[in-house]
Amino acid sequence: MAGRIPQSFIDDLLARVDVVDVVDSRVKLKKTGKNYSACCPFHNEKSPSFTVSPDKQFYYCFGCGASGTALKFVMEFDGLSFPDAVEKLATQAGMEVPREQASFEVRQEQQHQPLFDLMQKAGRYYEQMLRAHEKKARAVDYLKNRGLSGKAAKFFGIGYAPPGWDNLQNFLAENGDKETIKQLVTCGMLIEKEDSADSYRTYDRFRDRIMFPIRDARGRYIAFGGRVLGDEKPKYLNSPETPIFHKGRELYGLYEARKIRQKLTRMVIVEGYMDVVALAEFGIHYAVATLGTATSEHHLRRLFKIVPEVIFCFDGDQAGRTAAARAMETVLPVLEDGLQARFLFLPDGEDPDTLIRNEGKDAFEKRLNKADHLPEFLFDHLKEQVDFDTLDGKARFDQLAAPLINRLPKGMLRSLMKQQLKAELGTDSVAMEKLESQPQP
Ligand code: UTP
Ligand code: MN
Repeated sequence: MAGRIPQSFIDDLLARVDVVDVVDSRVKLKKTGKNYSACCPFHNEKSPSFTVSPDKQFYYCFGCGASGTALKFVMEFDGLSFPDAVEKLATQAGMEVPREQASFEVRQEQQHQPLFDLMQKAGRYYEQMLRAHEKKARAVDYLKNRGLSGKAAKFFGIGYAPPGWDNLQNFLAENGDKETIKQLVTCGMLIEKEDSADSYRTYDRFRDRIMFPIRDARGRYIAFGGRVLGDEKPKYLNSPETPIFHKGRELYGLYEARKIRQKLTRMVIVEGYMDVVALAEFGIHYAVATLGTATSEHHLRRLFKIVPEVIFCFDGDQAGRTAAARAMETVLPVLEDGLQARFLFLPDGEDPDTLIRNEGKDAFEKRLNKADHLPEFLFDHLKEQVDFDTLDGKARFDQLAAPLINRLPKGMLRSLMKQQLKAELGTDSVAMEKLESQPQP
């Protein structure tokens, strides 16, 4: 990608060329006093109202208002883009067009392209192994047992990393190509062996695992999650943070949700890879999962750019309630008016994967439709934390609720929540007044 042309060069170029020469070589000019004139090339006329000023290095048409510098004239008259017009004038003036360095982002992208390419090759390799490796049967059976269809596996690019220490390395780094090996280490696919003091050795990170490729919003392969076929630990192995993968930013399933043509009105955040895949298999194509991390503000801002409603899905147990409370804290600052966060708690022992297989799409969507809205979850959750029927319990409730409500951006929701807090307390919130009288950070 060519960089920008620096403004200083444009200035030099315009100082070097003469607008009179530039116009005159295309439209014959006649000297009229200080200026030059001609019939305007940009509209039809019989008497000349087009003038060129050598002093101002400017042309102007009194008839149609066309005006500009030599550069503009070349663009309009020759029908050229800005950079092409610059090139043309510069060549005539014997100048070479310098280019500013591409932006940081663009350079980073160019620099990382080999990594994206390698990751995609790895993904294709794992998919191929699921179809063709001599030991593929265990992997295929595992997926079949979990009720996964070939179609869903293909849609999500699911594959198989065969057992062994150097399958991927041998496949991608033919003849031990050092540059490729270095890149594979950088993107987390190979691990450097530590004990080999004198010889540099690396081995495959993912071995004998079901492979879930993680693709960014543009569909580029940036990481993998790998699940064991049995009960070994860890159950899921994820790519580490790399120059192209930041787990606090990426959501599993987002690319896939947007890939199929559907009008997205809400998104569901679930915990696991298999939850996303199972929901999609049953026709719920709007689920995403965080990658072994808590939902971040960045994740949420990202989703709310796409849809106005996000539903968090949690286990019904205590861990689920705790995770929900944390998600609530994270989402509050993001909730501009018009955006909605909701909370769905699943029956004990179920996750979206098991639940949708048991009860199907409609029942699951019914649950989604009934999910708690953030305001009710906030107040209900806090009431569980205190003894609300006592006065000191209520005072504590006030202390807990106010800082949360204070996290909301200014707007209707915030003001309604304040009203509700007052209604719950039966009197003005002291904690809220205190917070609002402090200068906001
Ligand atoms: P769970 O342990 O709830 O598993 O992990 P799951 O998603 O139901 O997996 P299945 O159904 O047994 O296959 C939820 C998510 O937490 C992350 C993964 O993203 C997983 O999908 N996780 C879990 C890890 O990153 N590493 C682990 O060892 C376990
Ligand atoms: Mn599960």
